Order: sequence, then structure tokens, then C-alpha cells
Amino acid sequence: MGAGILGGYLDGIQEEILLSAGAIQKRVRELGEAISRDYAGREVFLVGVLKGAWVFLADLARQITVPASFDFMSVSSYGAATRSSGVVQIIKDIEESIEGRHVIIVEDIVDSGLTLSYLVSMLKTRHPASLKVCVLLDKPDRRVTPVDLDYVGFAIPDAFVVGYGLDYAGNYRHVPYVFTLRPEVYTR
Ligand code: PRP
Repeated sequence: MGAGILGGYLDGIQEEILLSAGAIQKRVRELGEAISRDYAGREVFLVGVLKGAWVFLADLARQITVPASFDFMSVSSYGAATRSSGVVQIIKDIEESIEGRHVIIVEDIVDSGLTLSYLVSMLKTRHPASLKVCVLLDKPDRRVTPVDLDYVGFAIPDAFVVGYGLDYAGNYRHVPYVFTLRPEVYTR
């Protein structure tokens, strides 16, 4: 990705590109194909977790060739002290019933696994016909709670990454690739 497209503003900020836009698009296409095969003859309901998952969900949904609809949830941990309990606060819930539907939770990244394991158990209580999880990025080294991942884009090392939906202080979500930031960025 040349500096021209992003106006060069990442010069001096970007450290290393971990996943190029092309690599991400190829993998997202493969995930969409796998989902389309697995759900042949059925209809899927994608649940995206804001804010990080919006870019991934937008691209993934357009690679799915079975009937699909989607909604978003917004969650937030209660804070450092209670985060280890795995309880997250639902800021915005999905607006439709998922009872009897084939649901796929779509996440940008799984780290400790606390957010996803909470969401999986919470959504299971709503009696979906099936419930699966699709994540773009998996950081297995960071896992605190085991969580079953049905579709994974990439397993990545334990580095702080941004781009393609992931942010630092609200920034870089719109960048079409995944990269690390230079250390100076965190001390500004
Ligand atoms: C990220 C990500 C997951 C969660 C994963 O969200 O989108 O929801 O963290 O972490 P965990 O596995 O340790 O629970 P974040 O809190 O950064 O919010 P955002 O998506 O709005 O950026």
C-alpha cells in the first residue's frame, strides 16, 4: 500500500506491515467460501462486535453466497478489575431474535477470549439453531479462557496491531492492512 493512498500520514508512524491488504482480501474470500459451503441451503445471521469487526464483517458478508443478514452488538468490559471475570457490559444489543437461526459471531480479534466466551454463552441462552464464531485474527498466546473458533483468518504473534478495523486510541481503523506502530507513537 503506497503512501499516496493514505496521504503519507502513516510515514513515521507505521513500523511493520503484518498482513497486506491483498493477503487479507484473499483470506476473507476463503472464509466466505467456507461459510457458504458449510451453510449451503440455509440462511445465516452474522453478529458483528463493534467497533473493530465492522470492516471485516463488511468484506466477509460480500463473500457469502447463501442468504445472509446481519446486525451489530457493542460491548465493553466493566474495567480492569472485573475484566478477569469475563463479564462484559452490553452497550448495544442486536435488535432481532436469534431463536432458531444460524448465527455466526464475527470478531476482528480474539485475545484473552473473555469477550467471545461471554458472548457465546449469552447468545446460546437465546436458543439459536446453531452458533459459530468467525474471527479474522487470533492471538493464541494471549488466551485466558478457552473459546472454540470455527473460522479463523490468521493466527498472529502477541504484538499490538492496528488497521483493518483495529485501533489505537480510535485511530487507524480505516487502514486496509494490519500493521504495528512505532514505539514512539505510544509515548506521544
Ligand atoms: C477487541 C476485540 C474484541 C476484544 C477481544 O475489542 O474487538 O471484542 O477486544 O479481546 P479479548 O479476547 O481479550 O476479550 P476492543 O475492546 O478493543 O473494542 P473495539 O472493537 O471497539 O476496538
